[in-house]
Amino acid sequence: MTIRTAAIAAGAVIALPAWSAGAAELNLICSADVVICERLVSEFEASHSDIGVNMVRLSSGEAYAKVRAEARNPQTDLWWGGTGDPHLQAAADGLTAEYESPMLPELRDWAVQQAEISGHRTVGVYSGALGWGYNTQIFEKKGLAKPACWADLLDPALKGEIQIADPNSSGTAYTTLATLVQIMGEDEAFDYLKKLDANISQYTKSGSAPVKAAARGEAGLGIVFMHDAVSQSVEGFPVKTIAPCEGTGYEVGSMSLIEGAVNPDEAKVFYDWVLGVDVQNVMPEAGSYQIPSNKEAVASEHSPDLSQIKLIDYDFAEYGSSERRKALLARWDSEIGGQASE
Ligand code: G6P
Repeated sequence: MTIRTAAIAAGAVIALPAWSAGAAELNLICSADVVICERLVSEFEASHSDIGVNMVRLSSGEAYAKVRAEARNPQTDLWWGGTGDPHLQAAADGLTAEYESPMLPELRDWAVQQAEISGHRTVGVYSGALGWGYNTQIFEKKGLAKPACWADLLDPALKGEIQIADPNSSGTAYTTLATLVQIMGEDEAFDYLKKLDANISQYTKSGSAPVKAAARGEAGLGIVFMHDAVSQSVEGFPVKTIAPCEGTGYEVGSMSLIEGAVNPDEAKVFYDWVLGVDVQNVMPEAGSYQIPSNKEAVASEHSPDLSQIKLIDYDFAEYGSSERRKALLARWDSEIGGQASE
């Protein structure tokens, strides 16, 4: 990673680029964990010394909002990672560009399907299932029952113990909302979320923040993608990862080229590179335990095995549609609310 990339990731402004003057640039939004984003950028810059990357890490919903706000004057070339729903919404809104990568034949079916339902304006880059992670020491100390099912999260004994992100900013939380609607029906899902609200201590901005808080003992449980809970236990924190007994939803983390991008050629170089087997095989070293989209890439031994999890038949076209996503978020705002913090 260049100094400039690090500074931008940290939100700072720096005047001089670290790469040579006149070198090509790529403006990247990255919506996965910042450690993974930084690793990707450093791998790319090491193998493409002629392209400097300006990277900013934003949660999926924030990234969508930025791309939308910049529609007339795009400042972003490529958006990598984050849940697929806002990528699909951006595609439907014409904010992202059509591109059929020569790498498509190397990808798993779910990754190609994401491209097909968007008219090739997005593509799948990884996948992972939703669940939660809880702090085993806190649960033991407080004598709390171990939650195995969505229904168990309503236990009044869990008051103030749970964190989840705000679905406006976070794709993880939006996937949770859409999953509950698909499992229970919309009215029942909102009833459930209202009851769950009594146990929520904080609605965070970023999707993985809740389980990071649980790992550090600042919360009992975080509703997150299971691979984000696994990252915490691999790091040595007392976190147990759960796949909900009623079934659960999953993401097809996605990537999109921005319509009207200033650096479309550089964006395509990154796009094709990041779909390759070599870079996808390196990602677990950065704590990325998602299922990779390249057929030849090997998931980490720590990655939750999706074939052992009761997955719902998540309707990506429906819940990634602009109309449905807007309507669900508006209902969440009016009936659940919550102030996003970190
Ligand atoms: C984490 C997960 C990713 C997911 C992302 C969404 O980084 O590891 O698999 O795509 O969250 O982030 P968000 O902040 O939008 O929920």
